[in-house]
Formats: sequence, structure tokens, C-alpha cells
Amino acid sequence: MKKLFHNVFRGGKQLYTLSLDPGQRVYGEKLVKYNSGELRQWDPNRSKLAAAIMNGLKNFPFDAGTGVLYLGAAQGTTPSHVSDVVEKGVVVCVEISQRAFEKLLPLCERRENMVPVLADANHPEEYADYLDGVSVVYQDVAQPRQAAIFVKNMALVKGYGLLCIKARSVDVSMEPKQVFKKEINVIKEAGIEVLEVIPLEPFEKDHVLVVCKN
Ligand SMILES: C[S@@+](CC[C@H](N)C(=O)[O-])C[C@H]1O[C@@H](n2cnc3c(N)ncnc32)[C@H](O)[C@@H]1O
Repeated sequence: MKKLFHNVFRGGKQLYTLSLDPGQRVYGEKLVKYNSGELRQWDPNRSKLAAAIMNGLKNFPFDAGTGVLYLGAAQGTTPSHVSDVVEKGVVVCVEISQRAFEKLLPLCERRENMVPVLADANHPEEYADYLDGVSVVYQDVAQPRQAAIFVKNMALVKGYGLLCIKARSVDVSMEPKQVFKKEINVIKEAGIEVLEVIPLEPFEKDHVLVVCKN
């Protein structure tokens, strides 16, 4: 087992996080005993952050104690792995869909560092009170104006931002490469530095993960 980042391991082709909640599966993932703890397999076909790590992500701004604003938490698949990594750091989980939110709630009850917020990522003022100590924005919302939403949220956070861009959600008729260029320009024009752009194939078609700093 090779340690890649804090609480993130790779064994052969599999990725894992050290579980904060041993014995519990979040999405049917495999559990593996490791020293005195337990690893949860992290599926790159289910998590774009895992896909980016598999594809060589260099900038991983999550560590023990990091505060994270997670936009588009859905039922908590990737947020649960982020929660494993940051341990005592907080993961503010923003989700717009009532249905997904209801599935997210029991997970947030089990994991003290996950805070559920039913809100629209277009309106960061609605959850600005939760952002004390947050230094990383992670966004995965599959919306037409993904970069514009990201810029609004980055304005409230000093630190790093990771944006998943799904080309088809922005414009189905445009070449994915053009979409990525257009969205990345929106970020740069807002004065945010782009550190890395990772294509997510073969795990996710026509997606990239962009790592930024402000
Ligand atoms: C691809 S899923 C996220 C999957 C999740 N990030 C993971 O890896 O486990 C996208 C989620 O974004 C949510 N979403 C879409 N628009 C949103 C918005 N404006 N604000 C907050 N959440 C939004 C959707 O309801 C959906 O649950």
C-alpha cells in the first residue's frame, strides 16, 4: 500500500481512504483492514476527485484539519472520502436537491465533520456563515454556468479551488475542448490562478478537473 496524500493510499490499481467510520459503507465500497484501522475503496468511476488522482493530480490541498466548502454534495459519495482525509476539518456540504439532501443527512449524522446545507451554490450568501476556517472550495454541480458559480464562491474563500467541468452541461453543441477553454477563461479573468487541468477520461467522458488558487 503506497501513501499518496494524507489518509489516501494506493494498492495496485485501487485507491483508498482511511475510514473515519470503520465498519460503515457509504456506497457499497469494499472495506479493507489496514494496521489498526480500515481503508475504504475509493472508486474513480463514482468520484471525479478519485479519477483526477488516478490521472496524476499533483495539487491535493486537503490535509488533516482542512476546512472544505463542497458544492454539489449529492448523497455524499465523494464528500465522505474528503471527510476521511480532513478528519477534524469541516466539510460544508451544499446540495440543492431535497431528494439528494435527505439521503445525505444520515451520513452527516454519523460523521461529525460533515455539515449538510440545503442551498443553491449560485447564492453563497445563504451559507456564508458556515465558511469560517474554510480554505478549499470543491465544486461538482453539472450546471450551465459552472465557472461563474465557482468564481462567486471563490470570492468568499482564500485558498484553493477544485472545479469539475462537465462539457455537456455547459453546451452540448460546442466541442468539449472549447467549452473547457471558455470556462477556464472565466476563472482566469476573475484573477484566480489556474494550477492544473486534469482530464478525467477514461473514468468520465468530456470532463476535466481544474485546480486553482486565489
Ligand atoms: C454529479 S452530482 C455530485 C456528485 C458528488 N459530487 C460526488 O462526487 O459524490 C451533482 C450534484 O449537484 C447538485 N447541484 C446542481 N446544481 C446545484 C446548485 N446550483 N447548488 C447546489 N447543488 C447543485 C445536484 O443536485 C447533484 O446532486
